[in-house]
Amino acid sequence: MSATRSETVVWRQPPDFHSHILPMMDDGSDSVATSLEMLTRSAAYGCSVMVATPHFYPENEGPDAFLARRAASAARLLNGGYDPSRHPCVFLGAEVAYFTGIGHCADLKRLTVLGTRTVLVEMPFCRWTDSMVDDILFIRDHLGLCPVLAHIERYRAFYSRRQLELLIEEGVAMQVNASNIAGCLTRYRARRMVASGVVQLIGSDCHNLGTRPPNLDVLLHDLASHGGESLLSRMTEQCRLLLRGAVPLEQTPGT
Ligand SMILES: [Fe+2]
Repeated sequence: MSATRSETVVWRQPPDFHSHILPMMDDGSDSVATSLEMLTRSAAYGCSVMVATPHFYPENEGPDAFLARRAASAARLLNGGYDPSRHPCVFLGAEVAYFTGIGHCADLKRLTVLGTRTVLVEMPFCRWTDSMVDDILFIRDHLGLCPVLAHIERYRAFYSRRQLELLIEEGVAMQVNASNIAGCLTRYRARRMVASGVVQLIGSDCHNLGTRPPNLDVLLHDLASHGGESLLSRMTEQCRLLLRGAVPLEQTPGT
């Protein structure tokens, strides 16, 4: 294993586990310039690690086409001015939209954060069935991967308490968006989910510089003013463990 992988990355708080910073890849960054500015803004508030998680929609394309597009986008960013000495370390991943049978789809192993067994999954925005929950558990038990459910706060209307408790009991990792932790109406519940260990990871889910910018700074301000430094430390450590072995962008083969 290369000595330049995640083990040598400086892990400053907070790592951004969910972002759409790759240029012209999905509904996120629309150009290399936008991507570079998103990275610069993230670095300005102390973020040292970002996972690039472009949308993967299985009904639109297969893994081969997606990975080829991701490699081309990553190459554009590298050749367009990405500088690991002043930008956050970037790991390449995907935000995989749930599909029936995902827990038995061997191709999912190709959509993990590169170099790891960790995969970010976006659940359906409709009522979850028990077979959907079983599918998530199969990702771990059948494929040997570590599923992370993206922006868990968005699904409150769609899962039952029993389903959520089962996923928690089974140790499925969950990510929350920073805007939810900072929101006036949502912060209490979000902070409680982080404090109780239900949520392990934080993400900006940034798409652009305007309506959905990199915003983990709001999280820093909120937690710092509420004695939440230990939560930040815990989330940083959990992220580090899930990204063990991840390959930094500049070390990615083919870019
Ligand atoms: Fe996203």
